[in-house]
Amino acid sequence: MRGPGSASVRGYGQCKDTLHTSSPFHEAPASVRRPRTTGRVHTLGIRAPPPPRSQPEFLFSGNPFAPVSSVQRDAARRVSPRIPSLDQASRRPVAKLVVPGGNGFIGTEICRVAVQNGHEVAAFGRTGRPALTPARHPWVQDVEWRAADVFAPDAWRDLLDGADAVVHTIATIREHPDRNVTFDRVNAESALRAAEAAVAADVGAVVFLSVRDKPPLVPYAFLSAKRRAERALREDHPSLRTVTLCPNLVYGARKTGTPTLAAVLNQAQGMRPHPYATAEGRPLPVEFVAAAAVQAAVTSTMEGTLTVPQIDDIGRTSGLVDPNAASTPSLAPLLVGLGGTALGAWLLRRWRAS
Ligand SMILES: NC(=O)c1ccc[n+]([C@@H]2O[C@H](COP(=O)([O-])OP(=O)(O)OC[C@H]3O[C@@H](n4cnc5c(N)ncnc54)[C@H](OP(=O)(O)O)[C@@H]3O)[C@@H](O)[C@H]2O)c1
Repeated sequence: MRGPGSASVRGYGQCKDTLHTSSPFHEAPASVRRPRTTGRVHTLGIRAPPPPRSQPEFLFSGNPFAPVSSVQRDAARRVSPRIPSLDQASRRPVAKLVVPGGNGFIGTEICRVAVQNGHEVAAFGRTGRPALTPARHPWVQDVEWRAADVFAPDAWRDLLDGADAVVHTIATIREHPDRNVTFDRVNAESALRAAEAAVAADVGAVVFLSVRDKPPLVPYAFLSAKRRAERALREDHPSLRTVTLCPNLVYGARKTGTPTLAAVLNQAQGMRPHPYATAEGRPLPVEFVAAAAVQAAVTSTMEGTLTVPQIDDIGRTSGLVDPNAASTPSLAPLLVGLGGTALGAWLLRRWRAS
């Protein structure tokens, strides 16, 4: 259920409309939190130029700059939020993006989508360039790869020269305190270090990969670190344009088993056993998440939080990726596996009986 003022909450960077009061990442009600007073209009994820005083506030309505009546506004709040068709002027034709964690599952796809749409990309992770062959992935050669730890900024700071946006994709779902890998450090501090470096280098925007709901079997500390990073990006760096993406499961062929898991979650949507198996928290193909991240990075009017339906919309309509070529959920490996197990058991029974 949505709480009072929840429509506004989304505009301030929350990944969910309503937060559980018992959770460690519960925030104060929207009524006591105000948007940053930068003189800009804060709407559902769109930063618009300030309107003349007599105009009503702006909402998503197909055109981000069109005023809407209160009747239209109420209607808009009842439907799933839609991404407006973004004005071409606000989408820069060629931008430079820096992608911390760009050698990971989603980061790699963000690099591909950005390069293939004409943008300049520099990416780093501790192990550097991902194991993708240029023969099969020619775009890999157009990315400037660097082996660097985000906590050693001297090793990657120069990549920010002339950059327009940082797209942060570093995270862990497992802690290894003996190796200094904790949720707080990797999922929150790393984003704040990247944002600090961005501000120092005069980079205008940070796109942050967060998550809508706690993944199954992952401790709550994972999610509270993400929420802390979202809040700190917003509050500690008011000069930055920040966009937070909040998908749940992201699937693609390069992450084994995720297309099957996505198919199972989609099948379970009617039963709603978990937020990952709902329309609002449904799995998304990695191509759509990457398209939304690139769109957010290069669209100067976009700010706030992108929900699962909004990411889906951008993936389908932005033209940055071909929706027909996006990854698809597939039960086939599971059925083949189950079939193989059943066949094996049947053969074993026959062999024992003979
Ligand atoms: N996958 C999903 O289903 C999903 C769903 C929702 C949200 N997200 C979010 O999306 C983001 C990307 O997820 P992903 O699945 O692509 O993760 P991933 O494959 O694990 O990629 C993370 C990358 O971060 C790099 N990294 C880790 N520690 C680093 C450090 N100290 N310095 C520099 N680089 C470091 C790793 O490269 P090295 O090992 O080479 O350093 C790795 O390639 C994360 O924020 C995640 O929470 C993912």
